[in-house]
Amino acid sequence: MIGIDKLPTWLALALGCGSLTAQATEPPYRNPGLPVEQRIADLLGRMTLDEKLGQMVMGGRDWVTPAQVGALHLGTMLSGGDSPPPDPNNPDGWSALIQGYQAAALGTRLGIPLLYGIDAVHGFGALPGATVFPHQVALAAAGDEDLMCRIGAATARELAAVGLYWNFAPLVAVVNDIRWGRAYESLGENTDLVTRLARAYTTGYQAGLVDLGPGLPRPLLTAKHFLGDGGVADGSSHFHLKGVWSRLDRGDTRGEETALLARFLPPFQAQVAAGVGAVMVSYSRWNGTPMHGHGDLLQGLLRQQLGFRGLVVSDWEAVALLPAQGFDQQVAMAVNAGVDVLMEPARSAEVIGLLRTLAASNQISAHRIDEAVAHVLRVKFAMGLFEHPGPVAAAGGLIGSPQHRALAREAVRKSQVLLKNQEALPLRRGQHLRVAGAHADDLGLQSGGWTLAWSGFQGDNARLPGGTSILAGLRQVGGPTTRIDYSANGDFAGPPADVALVLVGEPPYAEWLGDRDAQGLRLSPQDQALIARMRPLARKLVLVLVSGRPLILDQALAASDALVAAWLPGSEGAGVADTLFGDAPFTGKLPYAWPRDADSFLPASASPAERQPSLLYEFGYGLSLTTP
Ligand code: BGC
Ligand code: BGC
Repeated sequence: MIGIDKLPTWLALALGCGSLTAQATEPPYRNPGLPVEQRIADLLGRMTLDEKLGQMVMGGRDWVTPAQVGALHLGTMLSGGDSPPPDPNNPDGWSALIQGYQAAALGTRLGIPLLYGIDAVHGFGALPGATVFPHQVALAAAGDEDLMCRIGAATARELAAVGLYWNFAPLVAVVNDIRWGRAYESLGENTDLVTRLARAYTTGYQAGLVDLGPGLPRPLLTAKHFLGDGGVADGSSHFHLKGVWSRLDRGDTRGEETALLARFLPPFQAQVAAGVGAVMVSYSRWNGTPMHGHGDLLQGLLRQQLGFRGLVVSDWEAVALLPAQGFDQQVAMAVNAGVDVLMEPARSAEVIGLLRTLAASNQISAHRIDEAVAHVLRVKFAMGLFEHPGPVAAAGGLIGSPQHRALAREAVRKSQVLLKNQEALPLRRGQHLRVAGAHADDLGLQSGGWTLAWSGFQGDNARLPGGTSILAGLRQVGGPTTRIDYSANGDFAGPPADVALVLVGEPPYAEWLGDRDAQGLRLSPQDQALIARMRPLARKLVLVLVSGRPLILDQALAASDALVAAWLPGSEGAGVADTLFGDAPFTGKLPYAWPRDADSFLPASASPAERQPSLLYEFGYGLSLTTP
């Protein structure tokens, strides 16, 4: 087990030979040769109450300026899903943004470095030109730990190039119900699969910078969302935000506690054992108790039983949803339940004021404040952030690099799941192909949520420079001998082609915007009509679904000779073409069971005997091209 309180030996050695004068004049907390616990104690002893409270609050890029970071002594900042640098959104823009805030933090009396967090949940998706990996649903279908490890490392490197070290990933939900809008961000319905793959990602990410040079930080991950986010019951959530009602997201996870723990806790146990530095609390409730106020689980279970020593961060504006009178009492409830850092992008100054009042009236004890601040400082010391708060120059050339794109393409290939094949696949060079469906040629649709914007984008491939749409991939892989005609609406004339490829699926979405009822999982009438229209236009019809979860097929199943789940492949659409042409084998397996129809839909928690008849394909299903 790698403790986050242990400094890497190389760092201790490298800095242990610093000049004698530096050691004589610098306070102990600045000395990387000392044990982390000693550095924490020394620094805590020097901090005023205001300096401590600043470490407990996270500000948002859209609301907080560098000057405010300095004035409020903020210890953490974030860019949410919709807050790239104002201008320009390129590596220099990001670097200038982060370094502007970092300089403000380093310029404070004690010079405590700032941690800046971002949701790089499928690569550095907020930056045009970065490598966009397939979403986790696809990586779960690939089921390859070594691949996860390498994707973790590549993501750490692209972020470090601009000075970002803190990623709000991995999402380790075990998903009970694909009607939940975060199924695509997750690693499937099986606890062991989620645990194994997320552990590999974390191991790779944390070691991602080691071979880029000496003295670089160990980047920081966030296991989220603790606990039971993927178990939310349909209809247990009912809030209206951004114009959309929720059904599951942020709802209630219900059941007998031992069974719930057996299902949802193992991924977190594995994350803690792998040395993850941060845990994000879930918006959801646990048998009715909001997780942000659940002291037994946040302290008793996570701290005492699992031995977690890093920082616990609240989710975006989650505190204001707690059942207490007034924002100050909500803040007190969260902090006293065990939340160390309050993610309050728009209200950070206000929260610091409330914390001060709560401290003065002893509604939050001095002990609890010191404990929370120690958790934050421990992470910063253990990362080596005091010694290296800036960007990693050696990673600069890696953003969207050929090696990272090749890795993403490999991930796409390995994640394709072949569900049906009646002598339609593989495609052969020299064939005449008719390609239809907007999902064939749209980098936004194939990348899903958390790409450039919180709920993604569509309709403008120029927004992801360097990306390859699935259609472009087909052309590239099919080569000059393959005739490929494309019409989004299926407008073709002339005698039937060899193969019709129809690419349909979901629009991009994030969180509750993607909550659906079972009817909402059905292919749209327009998509069904497109399939019907294409059917007579080729001898074989191959249906490729570009979606974050299984979709209910209805007549489309019988109308198709072959069916492929391509998930949300990200920027490297050529990986889809590699498998369709048989250049790479189909090895992906379903991370979610596939429902047969909307009326009989059942979530994973249903008994196997009850659920089995409602399924078209079971968990783990997936054909190969050689399957008879
Ligand atoms: C999501 C988190 C995310 C956070 C910051 C929240 O809405 O639930 O997963 O890390 O926003 O963007
Ligand atoms: C932010 C996300 C956040 C979401 C939750 C969005 O505007 O960009 O980061 O998770 O709001 O409300």
